[in-house]
Amino acid sequence: MTDSLTVRDNRTGQEYDVPILDGTIKAADIGKIKAGDDIPGLAVYDPGFVNTASCRSAVTYIDGEQGILEYRGYPIEQLAEKSNFLEVAYLLIHGSLPTKAEYESWVHEITYHTFVHENVKSFMEGFRYDAHPMGMLMASVGALSTFYPDARNISDADNRHMQIVRMIAKMPTLGAWSFRHAQGKPFVYPDNELGYTANFLSMLFKMSEHKFEADERLVKALDILFILHADHEQNCSTNAVRSVGSSQVDPYSAVAAGVAALYGPLHGGANEAVLRMLRRIGSKENIPAFIQGVKDGNERLMGFGHRVYKNYDPRAKIIKKACDDVFEVTGVNPLLEIAQELEKIALEDEYFVSRKLYPNVDFYSGLIYEAFQFPPEMFTVLFAIGRTPGWLAQWLELVQDKEQKIARPKQIYTGDRRLDFVPASERWA
Ligand SMILES: CC(C)(COP(=O)(O)OP(=O)(O)OC[C@H]1O[C@@H](n2cnc3c(N)ncnc32)[C@H](O)[C@@H]1OP(=O)(O)O)[C@@H](O)C(=O)NCCC(=O)NCCS
Repeated sequence: MTDSLTVRDNRTGQEYDVPILDGTIKAADIGKIKAGDDIPGLAVYDPGFVNTASCRSAVTYIDGEQGILEYRGYPIEQLAEKSNFLEVAYLLIHGSLPTKAEYESWVHEITYHTFVHENVKSFMEGFRYDAHPMGMLMASVGALSTFYPDARNISDADNRHMQIVRMIAKMPTLGAWSFRHAQGKPFVYPDNELGYTANFLSMLFKMSEHKFEADERLVKALDILFILHADHEQNCSTNAVRSVGSSQVDPYSAVAAGVAALYGPLHGGANEAVLRMLRRIGSKENIPAFIQGVKDGNERLMGFGHRVYKNYDPRAKIIKKACDDVFEVTGVNPLLEIAQELEKIALEDEYFVSRKLYPNVDFYSGLIYEAFQFPPEMFTVLFAIGRTPGWLAQWLELVQDKEQKIARPKQIYTGDRRLDFVPASERWA
């Protein structure tokens, strides 16, 4: 078997051999196919990059058919059960698990960069009283680039490391303050005696008590949710980070682009839609009628189906388990019963089975977030905090990849050509 493609251009009768490497052909090889000297080479039209590989990456592996997700080769199930978010962040950024000394130094560095410049606090206070926390997060991450102008020096490895540490460390601070602002509550400074996720909860919920200590089971559940969201290869926001980062801008600006992409309802908003759906269904008795409505094409079963996963989303299984721990502390969310029954019925129904529609990560995550008392606008902020190490690992890979170029897709021009411009004074006369 030869690893190549023979392409015959029927316009010219000419044949081309296009090498196949890693299951792909190079778009540049397709560009060599020309119908004439003055005619541009053939290009590939792929809105949304549905079948285009934009990079080589060793960060995250997904097999959607089998329902497999691995970070740096480690299955997500093992990481969620046996690791913690900061260790997973180290793994994503560095490519391998830390030694004891490396881990301790990493945790120390992240812990001691959680504070932000006081001016960050004052400009965050300047947002409107009802500002969406995701908008605040996006703006404040971008603004960090002005506090660390040295971050522009992206060719220096130590410098890159410094910005990565700062960003992972400060994201919970910015996220928590965005939350507190909308509630009119004072900002809480980081408590460096607490772990990463416990400190985040303290900055979110501490009031007048001397020390805020969240229930360990809640800390663990949120830490797992961060792990599950830490990377998902070339999704919309990661592609945004890479695309903006390809201009060699500083990493704060690149990550702000990732936050902006995540802000969009097609990316980060499905768990809120699941909650709305469950509320609308209201009780178990109404499930059959709802399922019928979905099958008749009147609506969608939110939290089911995925562009990549044609099997049970491995993250959904883990979240379902985490639900039990959270509800043990907070009391059961009555919507859980409806969700579980809905899942049971859907997984046995021919409509969903034949279309390979299984629960995705969003089916249960909204229920957990609600149990923490987070308003729906905060769901995406939590996602962004979890995704930060993934964005940065992908950015790091990008800036060291010799094959990468500034992102600049082609277009198929559909507008007018060669019109004669008539000045306004004549057109309006
Ligand atoms: C995620 C999603 C956008 C993926 O879409 P996709 O890969 O483009 O799949 P398609 O829309 O082509 O769906 C394929 C078939 O399954 C059906 N389908 C897909 N998701 C469905 C859902 N959640 N409920 C009911 N039917 C669904 C489609 O109607 C289509 O049926 P048809 O072949 O009879 O027309 C889609 O499954 C969806 O809208 N899910 C609900 C929203 C959600 O949970 N999003 C979060 C994703 S993490």
